[in-house]
Amino acid sequence: MSYNDKPGIWSKFRRKNAKGERGAEREHAPHVELPHSVKVTRQRSRIGRDPSFPSFSSKAGLKQGDAQFASAMKRLRQSFTPSHPVSNSRLFAGRRALLEKIVSLLEDQHLHLVLYGDRGIGKTSLMRIVAELANDADYYVSYTSCGKDTRFDALIRGIAGRIPLLFHRDFDPTENVVEEGNTLESLFHAGEVSVSDATSVFENLHGTQFLFLLDEFDRVASSEVREQIAELIKNLSDRGATVQFVIAGVASNLTALFSHIPSIRRNLIGIPVDRLSDRETRNLVELGASRSGVKFSNKALDLLATWSRGLPYIAQLLALHASLVALRGGKQTVDIRDVEAAGDEAEEEIGLRLSDTARRVIQAEQKKNNLADLRTLAIAASEHADVLPEAVLGRLDRTVRAELFKVAGGRTHFAEEASIPFILLVSRGGDDKDEPVDRVRLPR
Ligand SMILES: Nc1ncnc2c1ncn2[C@@H]1O[C@H](COP(=O)(O)OP(=O)(O)O)[C@@H](O)[C@H]1O
Ligand SMILES: [Mg+2]
Repeated sequence: MSYNDKPGIWSKFRRKNAKGERGAEREHAPHVELPHSVKVTRQRSRIGRDPSFPSFSSKAGLKQGDAQFASAMKRLRQSFTPSHPVSNSRLFAGRRALLEKIVSLLEDQHLHLVLYGDRGIGKTSLMRIVAELANDADYYVSYTSCGKDTRFDALIRGIAGRIPLLFHRDFDPTENVVEEGNTLESLFHAGEVSVSDATSVFENLHGTQFLFLLDEFDRVASSEVREQIAELIKNLSDRGATVQFVIAGVASNLTALFSHIPSIRRNLIGIPVDRLSDRETRNLVELGASRSGVKFSNKALDLLATWSRGLPYIAQLLALHASLVALRGGKQTVDIRDVEAAGDEAEEEIGLRLSDTARRVIQAEQKKNNLADLRTLAIAASEHADVLPEAVLGRLDRTVRAELFKVAGGRTHFAEEASIPFILLVSRGGDDKDEPVDRVRLPR
């Protein structure tokens, strides 16, 4: 039986997608009136000003203050979202095979999953789509974003505090404690929640399947907390509980997130989140384009896919800027020149997220026409998270290496995340020599 006719999460996804496309069409109807007060302010503020003085929307092809222009801008920003994960399957590009695999591992094999890959590759977006699909299939889904100081006790109490007591097999829906809206958290004693406390509460969950999503797991500084989570996963698996974990983090492999835990390797599957193929990148742009009402010429799509090198973050950023450039020029179709202009804008925008030192070091290398090694390292970082080729690192100038990289956990990393997309964009002329993304595959 293929996934298409299989009942469960995946079949809902297919139906939802069909619905989603219709929904997207409906949303094209122009609307959004500017509030009256804004119009008045604009008219007043223009009086007496030099016409060349910058103003919002001054480069608009559509008339300044035009409600349609404001509406189009708003729609573009909702359709291309470089600064937010995608949380809606209508805007989620590609990764169909990966989604099928995830659904099958969760639904058929009841495994726990770890999604790993570089920052900006799309782990959170993927998790949100998995959450959406699971929700549709009546899973109980709980999402937690971890931080440096995440403790086991707070994490478990946070999850338990959202689940009604009704889902615990020892409680009857008519009992007072259930009717009063208590949660599983009320079952913990006052002290620190231990792994065995968490196990004994979660192993009694029933009534549906539970999916606990833990994002940004790489940020958890305490190795003790990671071990506690691993132990909890092992306990819940051994007891055949209805709980499954999906964990996401920046890493090049599973053991980078869960070390010294061979005992749970049987229950935990690591899934690398790769770069998008060129086709998937084009799909990403087309989804945003059809939602926002702009079009991209074929050449514009090609250039955008080449420059973003399968990194959805860069693709979103370039697509947003390119369509803003086109819109300001009064055009509905984004052409190759708009993407070229977007390259400069996107480069500048990412540059602002870097420290002055890092930006200066990279720009100085660019002036010296010396970006090839940095580009190779940025590509490697986007493919394998934190594994950089030593031979290439060894060729770098000593100050460049000291300013842009740091050593942690015995590995060399880019010290600032934004260096990776910045280098890729600054060196975008060098893409002729790179292998097309469709042909590059990660080692498994
Ligand atoms: N499959 C996808 N389709 C469309 N946009 C995506 C996709 N995956 C990621 N993105 C976009 O890429 C950027 C980074 O995604 P995110 O999920 O936050 O990555 P990560 O969690 O790995 O850092 C966001 O702007 C998001 O909107
Ligand atoms: Mg994320």
